[in-house]
Amino acid sequence: MLTTYITPYAEIIARLSVAQPSIDPKYFYDQRGSALFERITTLPEYYPTRTEHAIFQMHGQDIKTCIASDTTVIELGAGNCEKARALCRLIEPKCFVAIDISGDFLQQAVDRLRDVFPELDIRTVVADIFDQAPFPPDLPLSRRLVFYPGSSIGNFDPEIALGLLRRIQGQLADQGALLIGVDLIKDKQVLDAAYNDGAGVTAAFNRNALAHVNRLIGSDFHLDDWRHVAFFNAARSRIEMHLQANRNLRVSWIGGERWFRAGERIHTENSYKYSVSAFAALLARAGFKRSRAWTDPRQWFAVFLAEV
Ligand code: AVI
Repeated sequence: MLTTYITPYAEIIARLSVAQPSIDPKYFYDQRGSALFERITTLPEYYPTRTEHAIFQMHGQDIKTCIASDTTVIELGAGNCEKARALCRLIEPKCFVAIDISGDFLQQAVDRLRDVFPELDIRTVVADIFDQAPFPPDLPLSRRLVFYPGSSIGNFDPEIALGLLRRIQGQLADQGALLIGVDLIKDKQVLDAAYNDGAGVTAAFNRNALAHVNRLIGSDFHLDDWRHVAFFNAARSRIEMHLQANRNLRVSWIGGERWFRAGERIHTENSYKYSVSAFAALLARAGFKRSRAWTDPRQWFAVFLAEV
């Protein structure tokens, strides 16, 4: 079953029209952006994906013993379903629900997953995990494991992240748990390099948001006019990504336009980094009763299991 929710786009124009313009990072993920992100996860500088994978390799059996059998796994931001594949192999769920904003990309990934697990009941929901309450209504009555890997929670400001965690906690009712990947604070050099890769894939990913926005609001952003900027802001414990205008330029869209001065920036993404204790505290504030975390030897990344 495929469920699709439509997102309104007036907010894109509103956010481009204010003094400090921004684009919601969800607009990275059209077909091309999702493919670019998949490439990012394999780059030598981008450690989170492979470090999280290593944690599952190292601690998988321990994690498995903490998760009930005959669980329904609900993955938020399922993307290419690669992490789901590894998790399904580990815990053998009865049902798997893949939720993602990029419909075509998700459908292809789910088709590949069906080939690998022909017996698994797989459902697909195309949705922004924030705008809707996207759990399908007819799930089996087994325990639920919400799986939110990759530290995507870091792409929300902590108060917004808290709201999402509270909602997940509420949706799990009395039965279930959250398995979530979280990127940890580390050396600025390591962090800066992860978002400024030598091959320029992150830069292409960042600029691709403009191509996506052009299609959505009929704007005429020229990608070559914009420089990729990314750095760790230690005071706010986050990577910031921006697109910086190379020259004075005018961008128009259906029903409007805006001038950008040379050097002016559009803020495209934050990626918050946590300490283990700070994220455990956030889970507790969200109402989870217990949590435990597994990390890699360098303590670069953590996988938390939080119970309601
Ligand atoms: C999806 N998310 C966790 C990535 C991150 O690291 O914040 C998105 C990303 N942006 C640039 N590189 C990767």
